[in-house]
Order: sequence, then structure tokens, then C-alpha cells
Amino acid sequence: MIIALCGQKGGSGKSTAAQGIATELMLRERRVLLVDADPQGTTRTWSDVAGEGGRRVPSVVAMGAKMHVPGQLDAVLRSYDDCVIDCPPRHGEIQRAALMVADLAILPCGPSPADAWAMTESVELVNEAKIVRPHLLAYGLISQMRRIAIGAGARDALVGIGLPVLAAELRQRAAHAEAMASGQGITDYDATSPAADEVRALVDELFALTRKGTHAKHKTSTRRSQATEGRPSSAP
Ligand SMILES: Nc1ncnc2c1ncn2[C@@H]1O[C@H](COP(=O)(O)OP(=O)(O)OP(=O)(O)O)[C@@H](O)[C@H]1O
Ligand SMILES: [Mg+2]
Repeated sequence: MIIALCGQKGGSGKSTAAQGIATELMLRERRVLLVDADPQGTTRTWSDVAGEGGRRVPSVVAMGAKMHVPGQLDAVLRSYDDCVIDCPPRHGEIQRAALMVADLAILPCGPSPADAWAMTESVELVNEAKIVRPHLLAYGLISQMRRIAIGAGARDALVGIGLPVLAAELRQRAAHAEAMASGQGITDYDATSPAADEVRALVDELFALTRKGTHAKHKTSTRRSQATEGRPSSAP
């Protein structure tokens, strides 16, 4: 599966979630490519820190607004089971490119309704992409959650602007920042921490969603193949 962590807002938790998800997928013995699409290079720096500390992290490559062009990301993906894309804030052209290749777009969002309202432009980008890619799945992820009441506020507000929200949430926990600073994903940095439990629950939910999405896609292709005698696409 190709998962893009996106959203125009800065500091929403995209890189933290990308590194956490990619590392957890790697720990589940999947071959993972982590694409750093952010000119700031947060995830490349994280990977450099990992290398200096002798830590195992997924392969990291830098890509930008051309990643959707044939011969770019698709050329390297054959060697991997999963790809996680860490998008930059703002840079609409890079978000668009990621939305042209992703199976699943995850938009991390802070806990307050105001954080959710600031996602309006990002949801519009997703909706534009869905016009040409109707199978694209997109969900909000409540991130840096501090209090349940506020989290529910962001959840309701995201649904209000047309974005379904994952059941899994990442609470505000210092361990996430510590893991990033040490060049590790949280489930590797402190496997028994509540933060790691939350990332594992998140990855479980992503698997369940993409399995459902694949099933729906397969059914559609099968219907089309019956009409056209083409072959249904195989599951990833
Ligand atoms: N769940 C969390 N708990 C505690 N701190 C967090 C959490 N998620 C993110 N942070 C911290 O918030 C800051 C911003 O997070 P991060 O870099 O993941 O956001 P981003 O969306 O990638 O930012 P940018 O838009 O600049 O790329 C970092 O210092 C990170 O350690
Ligand atoms: Mg980032």
C-alpha cells in the first residue's frame, strides 16, 4: 500500500506519523520505502541520525512534485511492499503529486476544532484528486490529542468539512519527540510505551481499511472485466 501523510498545515504531526507507521511496517517484516517529499528534509535527517546510531529504519528517498510521473516513484516501488510518503506543509504541488500515487491519504490534525477548520484547503486538494482517482481513501488522524473533549471537537469538525476520521488517535506524548530525535520509530524506540500501542493500533486500522478498499476495487474491476473481458487487477 502507498500511504501519504499530507495536509497543508505545518506541525500537524505528518513526519512523526510517517516515521512511526513506516517503522512499524518494517517491524512487521514488510519492505518499506519512506519518501521524504519535504524540502525541509526532516525524515532524511531522522534517517541520517539513525545511520549514525547504527539503528535500522526503512529506506528513505527524497522525491518531490514529479513523483507521480511514470518512471519516478513507480520505478522504485517494485522492490517494496509498502511506501509511506511524508509530505511538506503548504507546497500544494507536492501534495497533489502524492495524492496522484497514494492508495490512502492520512491527514493528521491537532485536537481542537480550529485545527480541523484549518484543514479545509487540504480536504479540497483531496477532493480534487478523488475526481480523477475515485478509489483514493482519505482519513483524518487526530494527533497530539491532549483531552478527550477537545479531541471529539476536532473529530466532529473534520467530519463537518467532509473528511472521515480514523478511530485510532495519537495522543500528545513526549516519547514521539524522543523517538524522532534518536532516529527511531516509536514502536522500535519504546515498544511497551502507550505511544507505541497507539501506532500499532493505527497500523492495524490502516491494514483493515486498505483490505476493504482493495476488495471494493477488485469487485469493480471484476465487474468491468466481465463487461470488457479484461483481466481484474490483482491485489497489492
Ligand atoms: N503525538 C505527538 N506527541 C508529542 N509530540 C508530537 C506528536 N506529534 C508530533 N509531535 C511533535 O510536534 C512537532 C511537529 O511534529 P511533526 O514534525 O511530526 O509535524 P509535521 O506535520 O511533519 O511538521 P511540518 O509541517 O513542519 O513538516 C515535532 O516537534 C514533534 O516531535
Ligand atoms: Mg514534517
